[in-house]
Amino acid sequence: MSYASRDSGGRLDYRDSLIEENIGKISQIILVTGGKGGVGKSLIAATAALMLSRASNRTGLLDLDLHGPSSCLLLGVEDNPVESGEGLVPPVVEGLKVMSIDLFSKGRPLPLTGQAKEEIVKEMLALTAFGRLDYLLVDMPPGTGDELLTISKYVKRSGGAIVITTPTHLAVNVAGRLIDILRSASLKIIGLVENMSTSDPESPTKELARAKGVAFLGEIPFDPLLSSRSGRLGRDELLSTRFADALKHVLRNAGLSVD
Ligand SMILES: Nc1ncnc2c1ncn2[C@@H]1O[C@H](COP(=O)(O)OP(=O)(O)OP(=O)(O)O)[C@@H](O)[C@H]1O
Ligand SMILES: [Mg+2]
Repeated sequence: MSYASRDSGGRLDYRDSLIEENIGKISQIILVTGGKGGVGKSLIAATAALMLSRASNRTGLLDLDLHGPSSCLLLGVEDNPVESGEGLVPPVVEGLKVMSIDLFSKGRPLPLTGQAKEEIVKEMLALTAFGRLDYLLVDMPPGTGDELLTISKYVKRSGGAIVITTPTHLAVNVAGRLIDILRSASLKIIGLVENMSTSDPESPTKELARAKGVAFLGEIPFDPLLSSRSGRLGRDELLSTRFADALKHVLRNAGLSVD
């Protein structure tokens, strides 16, 4: 059912019904989150989206990292969105529809306040014409700020979060807080992933998964190949890494339909 909520000034926000309509066409929305920065959220979101698309799923990738968007760089997206009666049609690579603030800011930095970030997230959700999708992956910025709180309001029904951490007590500690915030926002937690894993049986990630009652989806090893040529890997190269192999297992454990 469509609705329009009120903003902090009591005004009705009619974008809500557009957002509801857009989100209603997407079977599963997966937020790729992680409390700490640099744990691999963007690489995992982009690679997973590419894999799902190659496995013949209708897939989109929404980059909500407004300060450090990475999706277009990682996937080599060069085309611009196109205006249509349905909204902004995102550029497509290998069947994957990609929307990012970078398609508008073109590498320029954006100094944004919290309120502005909330507005941009709503605009992206209301205006992007993803159409019918099996999966929409969302590359989240680090932390538990406005981007997460804004999108969480809209994706409770069809959404869930994958939480990425590295096996250090600092990153795992922040991941624990993130899990609490996701729960308080009533968002389903699909599971925890240990990236740049050392395969230590005493992994603090597994311990956190047990303590929080969250599924442990698997480990992804540190893959030095990802740094070759300063990390400028083509899509085929990226999908043939050990990183991508391990990610495929993680996606299967999460119940996603990869080959
Ligand atoms: N398993 C891995 N092995 C080796 N390098 C990795 C691995 N996972 C990610 N990286 C590298 O770590 C760096 C950070 O990854 P990425 O940008 O995806 O992290 P992030 O969590 O999105 O960061 P931010 O919080 O800044 O958005 C990148 O250079 C990426 O190539
Ligand atoms: Mg990132």
